[in-house]
Amino acid sequence: MRIAVPTEHQGHETRVAVTPETVKRFRGLGAEVVVQSGAGATAGVTDAEYQAAGASLAASATDAVAGADVVLAVRRPDAAALAGAKPGVALICIADPYGAEEAIGALAKAGVAAFAMEFMPRITRAQVMDVLSSQANLAGYRAVIDGAAEYGRALPMMMTAAGTVPAAKIFIMGVGVAGLQAIATARRMGAVVTATDVRPATKEQVESLGAKFLAVEDDEFKQAQTAGGYAKEMSQEYQAKQAALTASHIAKQDIVITTALIPGRPAPKLISAEMVASMRPGSVIVDLAVERGGNCALSKPGETVITDNGVKIVGHLNMPGRLAATASALYAKNLFAFVETLVDKEKKTLAINWDDELVRATLLTRDGAVVHPNFQPK
Ligand code: NAI
Repeated sequence: MRIAVPTEHQGHETRVAVTPETVKRFRGLGAEVVVQSGAGATAGVTDAEYQAAGASLAASATDAVAGADVVLAVRRPDAAALAGAKPGVALICIADPYGAEEAIGALAKAGVAAFAMEFMPRITRAQVMDVLSSQANLAGYRAVIDGAAEYGRALPMMMTAAGTVPAAKIFIMGVGVAGLQAIATARRMGAVVTATDVRPATKEQVESLGAKFLAVEDDEFKQAQTAGGYAKEMSQEYQAKQAALTASHIAKQDIVITTALIPGRPAPKLISAEMVASMRPGSVIVDLAVERGGNCALSKPGETVITDNGVKIVGHLNMPGRLAATASALYAKNLFAFVETLVDKEKKTLAINWDDELVRATLLTRDGAVVHPNFQPK
């Protein structure tokens, strides 16, 4: 069984899909691991470390992929990049398939068995493979670090001989995996933290982290969580009430971190231009939803906007990639845990059980067809 790891082809991707630790574990499964030279450079892993862990190096992506049974990646490579792999090669990555139907079709046509790690069901057995959680947790942490770095003042209250420094006020909007870590991080750094969400379950979570919960708790709020644990898109009426409640609060905040998402929908707009205008100069907004359209009306993907009233709006793309070494270590373990379920440990071969619920949930393409239920013609 040959596992290939080509260098990520998208310029802004800093993470890598294997680490020396997972190389060793794949070797333990009887696999040969081929890493393209330089693939770990932006995540702090040298070629020598991969070799020491038992990987072989390939000079090019084509050489790495040649004869592969499995290709591991962070982002989805093009079908053309997999041309030299074995027929039916398993590609395992964050496939980001929505709006990319053509590219997914090309993978199907090339006979690739493409798996989307972000479709991993959030069940107990698959927690160790949950890339959304492993990466969102780091994004939430990094959002506070970036917010603090842009903020020209200290976060904790300090009583010094030269005077007292007040604690910074940080408001977290959206309390999923990223938001919870943002709350915990902001608290550890000494800020006074408030948070909001539309799912009632978050109230207790926020309070247990020592932050104050703020939300419109009406009948719609009580039903805002889907069976899958996600938020629903809220009515116009609720959004208006939510905006009225948060507007006066935002005006008093030093740092606002937004993480609100709704599966399959654009990110909800939670901060209007007027709300930004009400904030003090030097305050900071970090918009983690910027890749999905943004929670703030003024955020721009990949940019830090400074408004006329001196508010900084940080719109970094690929937040987990700003902690590439940690993000890669966790992502690589998520991948290993999944690949381990696809292997016959006695025969040391790839033996995918196509009926397994994790396979069925994540498999996008197989045997020339797009097979995932979300991508069937209506
Ligand atoms: P997400 O990334 O889809 O959304 C982030 C947060 O934004 C959510 O808490 C959501 O309720 C909130 N949000 C959406 N619209 C909003 C609005 N208009 N105003 C304010 N907030 C809004 O969520 P994530 O992080 O993927 O978590 C989703 C759920 O999955 C949670 O219930 C989480 O506890 C659960 N989960 C379960 C796991 C497991 O059982 N293995 C693992 C990880 C998460």
